[in-house]
Amino acid sequence: MTQPATNNTVYLNSTAPDRVRRERLYAGQIFLFTATPETTALRDFAAEMIEEAFAPLDPVTAQFDMPVEKFVEIFGPLKPKFIHHPKTKQLMRDALASLGCDLEETYLDVPRLRGVTSDSYLTAGVGYAHPLHRDTWWSAPLAQLNWWMPMYEFESESSMAFHPPYWGTGVENHSEDFNYYEWNAVGRAQAATHIHQDTRVQPHPPADLARDPQVRFVVPPGGIVVFSGAQMHSTVPNTSGRSRFSMDFRTVNVADLKAGRAAPNVDSHPQGTSLRDFRRMSDDAHLPDEVVAQYDSGEIPEGAVLVFDPNGGGVRAP
Ligand SMILES: [Fe+2]
Repeated sequence: MTQPATNNTVYLNSTAPDRVRRERLYAGQIFLFTATPETTALRDFAAEMIEEAFAPLDPVTAQFDMPVEKFVEIFGPLKPKFIHHPKTKQLMRDALASLGCDLEETYLDVPRLRGVTSDSYLTAGVGYAHPLHRDTWWSAPLAQLNWWMPMYEFESESSMAFHPPYWGTGVENHSEDFNYYEWNAVGRAQAATHIHQDTRVQPHPPADLARDPQVRFVVPPGGIVVFSGAQMHSTVPNTSGRSRFSMDFRTVNVADLKAGRAAPNVDSHPQGTSLRDFRRMSDDAHLPDEVVAQYDSGEIPEGAVLVFDPNGGGVRAP
């Protein structure tokens, strides 16, 4: 089988239509955007919520003034609060529309807030730093696009890394042992209880997998990094001396799902699909059953949960 060519093009503030952008993202290219008024409104809303919760401390340095348990107690509940706030969805809708997404064709997963603390202060549960991975190992569809936005200025030392050599090259990762519906049933209630160690079984590459060459993007607050869910990426262990707060969300396009347009599959073999978690941007409708069925795989085990519940700990992989 011919491997897709590695293509490392990065587009800044591209005005290409969404259809062309999606094609390029499925080919491994990456899109960066500086803030628009709409993405700034979304950023401001999340930042206000974070600042209110940590007040009177500055959220990016609050970790140095409290025990880790207290940090988890403050930050943990913010995640579901942000997801369920009625303003969040409207702001996301406006932000994606400002970047050219069609609200009828685009389906959106729940947004996530992340807090990556510095100096190994919090490394599990709500602060889990993801090692090299593709989201597609966790049952994300190959047509999934990831949108990542920082809340504050941050450094390369607290960013996210991409590992382009793996775009066209598969690695051992144990995704074949992962069942999304089982994960939803077991994993979701546990994340909030993990502070010092995360014991949930997850797909993972060999421990000595080369991280280099890697590339990191440092974008301004309210800016966005868009990439395929099949990109190999990781959380850079934060040594910047400041906590990094970001939000991210995922989209799929229903026309692409129907037509089978997506990133190539080099090594993702999980059971089940996360497609039931996505809702149409215009009216919150689920994807049609026949579209989900096109991507479902494997047995549905007893006690399985088909849809991720963001209330259950508020954290999921990856
Ligand atoms: Fe990820």
